[in-house]
Amino acid sequence: MALRETEQLTQMITAAALSRAICTIGELGIADHIKKGAPQPVRRLAQLTGAHERSLYRMLRFTASYGVFRETADRNFDHTALSAALMSDAETSFRPAAQMFHRIFAAWDGLHHAVLTGELSFPHVYGQPLFDYIGSNPELAPIFDAGMTAFHGHETNAMLDAYDFSDIKVLADIGGGNGSLLGAVLLRYPHLRGILFDVHHVAGRARVAMQTLGLQERCSVVEGNFFESIPEGADTYLMRHIIHDWTDEQSVQILRNCRKVIPQNGRILLVEFAVPPNNEVGMGKDTDMVMLAVPGGMERTEEEYGELFEQSGFKMSKTTPTSSAVCVFEGRPSGPDSA
Ligand SMILES: C[S@@+](CC[C@H](N)C(=O)[O-])C[C@H]1O[C@@H](n2cnc3c(N)ncnc32)[C@H](O)[C@@H]1O
Repeated sequence: MALRETEQLTQMITAAALSRAICTIGELGIADHIKKGAPQPVRRLAQLTGAHERSLYRMLRFTASYGVFRETADRNFDHTALSAALMSDAETSFRPAAQMFHRIFAAWDGLHHAVLTGELSFPHVYGQPLFDYIGSNPELAPIFDAGMTAFHGHETNAMLDAYDFSDIKVLADIGGGNGSLLGAVLLRYPHLRGILFDVHHVAGRARVAMQTLGLQERCSVVEGNFFESIPEGADTYLMRHIIHDWTDEQSVQILRNCRKVIPQNGRILLVEFAVPPNNEVGMGKDTDMVMLAVPGGMERTEEEYGELFEQSGFKMSKTTPTSSAVCVFEGRPSGPDSA
């Protein structure tokens, strides 16, 4: 094998080191102790975070070789654009995203089991599915919400620029998390009213977020379980990165519950990655591995979303690509609700 390929394979086999190092940096809050343009000696960073100086130096030297921090003279580290995004007060900070993966990293241990059996990875390792685990670990829940905003927040404006919401009257965001997406849509379209639906502990934080945005009069926050029922009252039901968390059977159950409450002239919008064909590179192929190891769902092709729609009483009416990696898959009721 050529030297280049042996090095490539070596890097791939040990790639967990990079992920683990960045997650550890997030957990320790290293980025918060460096001000942009004022490099800090690693000795000081170790003192401030309770870390072992030489080991911390080796880790920062390694991540700096990938652009996360920059080593200046004498074992001092300054920020780069990537490391600055790990500061707690960065706009849409990635620190919670790194902390979230730090705290559930062992989910990857279950990948082997998932691939062999088709069963879920997360309960194999943690004894319960992801969202139950988050619900029973209150300190993890707000970190998860903020991590979602880091990973997916930039998709909101891309979606708003690509898809026209102007003829919608009431928009329900199902599994709306901390409300950052619905809040942005309501601010862009002042005529719109919103319903945010999520599980009990998330809904509480979403209410506070809507108040902070001054949207409490235009948006109701409803708590519940989308496997049981979905709130009535909207003409459009949006789900961003919800269906990808679930198996086909579970997805059809959620979509059928949506179908029960969507008026005949209403619509459903799934905001998801479309897995590209053949050997094409695409974010959806990377996150599909996360889906396999963590919630137990899957990323899908456009055709696969069309099939889920058909099994749930919808037909795919439009696919809108955006400038980010997500598409908006629009479904319309295919006939009278028979679910
Ligand atoms: C991957 S996050 C996506 C959050 C948000 N839509 C976004 O794009 O940032 C999945 C969301 O689904 C919610 N969720 C999970 N299980 C649920 C259930 N059974 N009923 C309602 N919401 C649920 C979670 O609390 C979480 O907010």
